[in-house]
Amino acid sequence: MEWQFDKIEKEAQAELEAVNGQGGLEAFRIKYLGRKGIVQEIFSSLGSVSAEEKPRVGKQANDLRNKLASILEEKTLQLRAETSKETQYTLDHSLPGVAPSIGHAHILSQTIDEICSLFEKLGFTVQDGPEIETEFNNFTALNIPIDHPSRDSFDTFYLEAEDRSNKGRYLLLRSHTSPGQVRILKQFPPPLAVIIPGKVYRPDAVDASHSFMFHQIEGLLVDRDVKFSDLKGLLTVFCQRLFGKDIKMRFRPHFFPFTEPSAEVDISCYICKGKGCSVCGRKGWLEIMGSGMVHPKVFEAAGYPKGKYTGLAFGLGVERITMLKYGINDIRIFFENDKRFLEQF
Ligand code: PHE
Repeated sequence: MEWQFDKIEKEAQAELEAVNGQGGLEAFRIKYLGRKGIVQEIFSSLGSVSAEEKPRVGKQANDLRNKLASILEEKTLQLRAETSKETQYTLDHSLPGVAPSIGHAHILSQTIDEICSLFEKLGFTVQDGPEIETEFNNFTALNIPIDHPSRDSFDTFYLEAEDRSNKGRYLLLRSHTSPGQVRILKQFPPPLAVIIPGKVYRPDAVDASHSFMFHQIEGLLVDRDVKFSDLKGLLTVFCQRLFGKDIKMRFRPHFFPFTEPSAEVDISCYICKGKGCSVCGRKGWLEIMGSGMVHPKVFEAAGYPKGKYTGLAFGLGVERITMLKYGINDIRIFFENDKRFLEQF
């Protein structure tokens, strides 16, 4: 068979001219240069060409193949250049830019700030104490006896280092903010009113309601003639400002070695108004903090004259209050640094 090389070449050229995308280039390659393409068909037919014709037809077939390959490459480059030019011009300058992400205070810091500023309005000043404490300040000065379970290594992180200032007693990570009371009593003369926010540590297994580190806020007010009624009044005003005017208070008798008498403070559940719901565990009440009148032994350990002053103290858990306030049911989420959680506050 006689191949019309010129006609094939012209048709191919015209076809390629009309191609305007990657798909068209590939279809062209398959049709002309593929394994079952026209060029291959021509080469396969060379066997039936007469011996004297063969060199001429062979050369034409080769030329055709080279020509088609080269115009295909040219077209590929041309299309590539066009698309990159297009992307250059499709950049939309009116699109809004990527906003820088601006951080903000962690929800626990926000709660601490809010509680501190409520107490500041009531005349308290904010102080802090060290997270590494002496065994004396954390326990002994607070009238916590040597055989008290909270002294156990299951309940307290002891450090390898010894407290040289205190004749060989141990240093530890404070298990509550109450040792701050001892430091304040030694540092400032009465009358005084301070709150001490900070981290505390207990080697608890971590679960939805326990963490080996959490935050407390300690309160201490010392003067002549501070009474239990002052404690009730102060904490009632505080809770109403934090949770709303309608809440009711309940002071339940309790025991802490460093306060006498002691009370746990409950507020009526602000969700169900005391009827009982899942937040308050159907009790209608939420436990908010521990409190009491400063024990004479604590004044004694701080070097106070006997019987001259009285005081009130309280301690609350920041995570617990935050969880109640915002309906958060897992303490671990505070410390996971998940922005999807943090950005909600
Ligand atoms: N330190 C106590 C606790 O961690 C709380 C408390 C503080 C109780 C002050 C009474 C007075 O449980």
